[in-house]
This record gives sequence, structure tokens and C-alpha cells, in this order.
Amino acid sequence: MRFENKVVVVTGGASGIGLAAARRFHAEGASVVVADLNDEAGAAAASALGDRARYQHTDVSDWPQVQALMTAAADAFGGVDVLFNNAGIGSFGATPDLPVEDWRRVIEIDLNAVFYGCKAAIPLMRARGGGAIVNTASISGLAGDYSFAAYNAAKAGVINYTRSLAIDHAREGIRANAVCPGPVDTPIIAGIKAMQGVRERWDDAVPLGRFAQPEEIANVVAFLASDEASYMTGAVIPVDGGVTAHTGQPNLPRLLGGG
Ligand SMILES: NC(=O)c1ccc[n+]([C@@H]2O[C@H](COP(=O)([O-])OP(=O)(O)OC[C@H]3O[C@@H](n4cnc5c(N)ncnc54)[C@H](O)[C@@H]3O)[C@@H](O)[C@H]2O)c1
Repeated sequence: MRFENKVVVVTGGASGIGLAAARRFHAEGASVVVADLNDEAGAAAASALGDRARYQHTDVSDWPQVQALMTAAADAFGGVDVLFNNAGIGSFGATPDLPVEDWRRVIEIDLNAVFYGCKAAIPLMRARGGGAIVNTASISGLAGDYSFAAYNAAKAGVINYTRSLAIDHAREGIRANAVCPGPVDTPIIAGIKAMQGVRERWDDAVPLGRFAQPEEIANVVAFLASDEASYMTGAVIPVDGGVTAHTGQPNLPRLLGGG
């Protein structure tokens, strides 16, 4: 019950990693506000949690809606202690083929929204004497992927913004950390994964040999948001089955016919 008497806001809480985290926070005693664009799934998620949960329709890329989200959390539960900035979208396309509007949309949702969330939540955390922010970045913010131009840029921005948040607010008792998932079994990448032969080869590119389940990311998020991580701020934590432990060089034993 690490989150008893805590109020937690989860963006993108209707699906995938956000949904798993909302369940985890709630199971450990938190009051949870699920924020999402997908009203049907978001409302269902909140009502399945039951008491101490509510859904708030929020487009995280819209600053007034994000302000309204934090006001709603404070009105419903008295404040905000934890913000999990997690909503996000994928993007595919190398620079010449990427429409300007797509680039802007990805930066708005995957990067600017993280700033909007923090800007609206930090005054409420100050009023409670502290708080914890966890931002969902990605291993795609740590290095480049083929044809992930906008996503790579946005997630790298989230990582360094998290460090900036951490030092700016450390003396206020507000910690900020980032998780960098590798591939996770969620709808965001279902389309690519479903293509012929892609799943097996993608699994094979992960040293642990498989995608993460959303709960495996939520476990780390909950730890970072909890008092158990009281001396962690500005940390950037890969949760990636070993992907970033690899230099990217070919598997020589396999290349040479042995492995
Ligand atoms: N699945 C992966 O492999 C993976 C890997 C690394 C990082 N991530 C990141 O994890 C986060 C969660 O993704 P997921 O895999 O759980 O995907 P998901 O598609 O299951 O969940 C994303 C949620 O965000 C919501 N959302 C999208 N745009 C929004 C907006 N403008 N306002 C409010 N909500 C919005 C969606 O409706 C959805 O419920 C994202 O930031 C994603 O970039 C995912």
C-alpha cells in the first residue's frame, strides 16, 4: 500500500502501460485520475477500478485541457501527489517523407504534453509539500531507430526535460524520473508487429527474447513514484529486456554458424 492517501494522475491511462500503472497505483491505495482521449476505454478503466478512481477526458496536447485535468484531480481528491506523464503516439517516417503536420503532432503529444502536465501539476505538488513525476520516454530517446525521426526527437526531449525538472524542483521535494521501455505488448505497435514475420524477428532482437508486458513497465513506474525511490531523481531507467545493453554489432556466434 505504497500509495495510500496519495492522488495519482495517469495520462494515457485507458490502455497499455498507462492502464497497467493505473491499476497498480490503485491496488496500492491511491486515488487515481485516468486521463485519456479514448472516452469509452478510459471511463471503463476508471469504473473497473471502482472507488477512488475517475476518468477525465483530456487531450494532453491541449494546455487548457491539461489545466482542467489537474483542477479536476484536486477537486475530486484534494490535490496531486504523483503525475505519470505517459500518453503518447508512435510515428513512422524518415525526414523527407514525414509530413510537417506529423512531426508537429508527435512533438505536441509526446513532448510538449509532458511540459503541460508538469506545469499544471507542480504548483499542486508544492501545496502538498512534494510529489513525484514519472515520464514515459523510450529507448527510442536514447538512440536512433530507422524511420522514427519525430519519435526519436520527442523522446530524447522527454529525457533531458526530466533531468531539468529534477534539478529545478529537488529542493521542493518533487522528484522526476523517466522510464525508457523497449518493445511492450500494447496497441501502439500492434500494427507493425502483426506484419508477416515481424513479431518473431523483433522478439529475437531483444536479449530477453520477447516483448515486455505492460505490467513489467508499471512495476518500475510505481517504484519510481513511491517513497522507496526517495533518493532517485533525474534518473533515466531503461526497462528494455537488454536492448540497450547491446552495442548493435551482429551476433557473431550466429553469424559464424554456431549460435
Ligand atoms: N509499447 C511500446 O513498445 C512502447 C515502447 C516505448 C515507449 N512507449 C511509450 O509508452 C507510452 C504508452 O504507450 P502504450 O504502449 O501503452 O500505448 P497505447 O496505445 O496502449 O496507450 C497510449 C494511450 O495514450 C492515449 N493518447 C494518445 N494520444 C493522446 C492525447 N493526445 N491525449 C490523451 N491521451 C492520448 C491513447 O488513447 C492510449 O490510451 C507512450 O508514451 C509510448 O510512446 C511505448
